[in-house]
Amino acid sequence: MKLFLDSAILDEIKLAAATGLLDGVTTNPTLIAKSGRKHEEVVAEIAAIVNGPISAEVLSTTTAEMLTEGKQLAKLHPNITVKLPMIVEAMPVVTQLAAAGIKTNVTLVFSVNQALLAAKAGATFISPFVGRLDDTGENGMQVVADIVQVFKHYKFSTQVLVASVRTPEHVRQAALLGADIATLPYLVFMELFNHPLTTAGVEKFLQDAGITPTKV
Ligand code: G3P
Repeated sequence: MKLFLDSAILDEIKLAAATGLLDGVTTNPTLIAKSGRKHEEVVAEIAAIVNGPISAEVLSTTTAEMLTEGKQLAKLHPNITVKLPMIVEAMPVVTQLAAAGIKTNVTLVFSVNQALLAAKAGATFISPFVGRLDDTGENGMQVVADIVQVFKHYKFSTQVLVASVRTPEHVRQAALLGADIATLPYLVFMELFNHPLTTAGVEKFLQDAGITPTKV
């Protein structure tokens, strides 16, 4: 399973990339606003750090505007994936960008039917928001399980990018379900490395070797 960082904060992206385990980055207008920087600027800088798909989201909502905006975003760097909301107006944009060889990520997916439609349109990635589904009392990972099953059934090449991940448990379940990618907030990404028995084990080995650990 590929791991993306769901962030527009360059320091976080650099630290995650330094592990050698970062496969891509997703951004959204909320994350860009949090970075306090200009959209195009941030996206271009992220693309210079991470050699993998970088999702940059359109801010318009009509078909014509999203198409123009998507083509502009794609020009920023060959690794840019155009992120589009799961609305009916975006579906022809997905198909036209795919025909032009531009990757797309259909975001704000909350149901199997939405995932099916985006896959039929030719989306490269679809992003089910598991955390937000859980927030409403639905089971986000069950929606992912159903999407994975439907895509397998019809042999869609569209990749399932699990988003709105809040905990390492979401990551574990995504991996068990065979999701293609999970995009993670920085803290969740770093939590994946930890286990209390690993920390205790390292401390004990160093202690037994007569070494005072500087940082474990
Ligand atoms: O990738 C989508 C993500 O940014 C949304 O996460 O936690 O705002 O639901 P959240």
